[in-house]
Amino acid sequence: MARYYVLLGPPGAGKGTQARVVSEKLGLAHVSSGDLFRENLKNQTELGKLAQSYMNRGELVPDDVTIAMVRDRLQQPDTKNGALLDGFPRTPAQAEALGEMLSQLGAEVNGVPLISVPDEELVNRLSGRWTCRARGHVFHEKFNPPQKPGVCDFDQSELYQRDDDRAETVRTRISVYWNQTAPLIDYYRKCGKLVEIDGNQPIECVTRDLLAALQSE
Ligand code: AP5
Repeated sequence: MARYYVLLGPPGAGKGTQARVVSEKLGLAHVSSGDLFRENLKNQTELGKLAQSYMNRGELVPDDVTIAMVRDRLQQPDTKNGALLDGFPRTPAQAEALGEMLSQLGAEVNGVPLISVPDEELVNRLSGRWTCRARGHVFHEKFNPPQKPGVCDFDQSELYQRDDDRAETVRTRISVYWNQTAPLIDYYRKCGKLVEIDGNQPIECVTRDLLAALQSE
């Protein structure tokens, strides 16, 4: 039976960093709404152009287009064993839509790890983040540096700093998280799906705790 997990947490909590490793270990597809928007942006699709203005301001892309994009992604063959969702859902309407999508597939949300990190640490993480141009691998200049500055360890592509990692946009993204996404913490807690993970520890320790939580589901 396919399994679906939702990674919750503020911008910079380490969702993308963890999702790459954990999805591979569990044989699940990694479905990141942010990566899907950035891919559309790179290919200059209409969806990418629409998303860009919201992303640059640190605001959420409207629910209808976001839900349609993720619905389409969850029908791709690589999700046959399930998926680790990273950055979706981010609003109550998206959470409801996800529940409906999965029930049409005869599945459900099996667990929701919440990666918690203090706000001041998020700013440090995002201001030092470097992202790979080709496939979105993520590094940090102090906490997880690439072997060669400016070059991705995995595919040797160029590393860049995301436009939405500027300090003022980061502040907006954190406040959008608390206003629009944090209500999902209670939503999933009430369904008994929430598992709290301390994200304020070294990357490998967060991975260990996440794997332990998901493998005990
Ligand atoms: P998205 O790309 O999803 O960004 P985000 O949620 O803001 O999350 P980030 O990618 O910034 O952080 P992360 O938690 O993945 O951290 P990472 O692993 O990189 O969304 C971008 C935009 O797209 C949104 O603002 C919105 O406009 C739009 N969007 C996306 N989804 C949407 C949706 N569902 N609805 C509407 N709009 C949507 O780590 C951060 C840094 O910290 C890295 O440098 C990393 O190396 C480092 N690090 C990671 N873990 C640790 C650790 N344990 N210790 C020290 N450093 C660490």
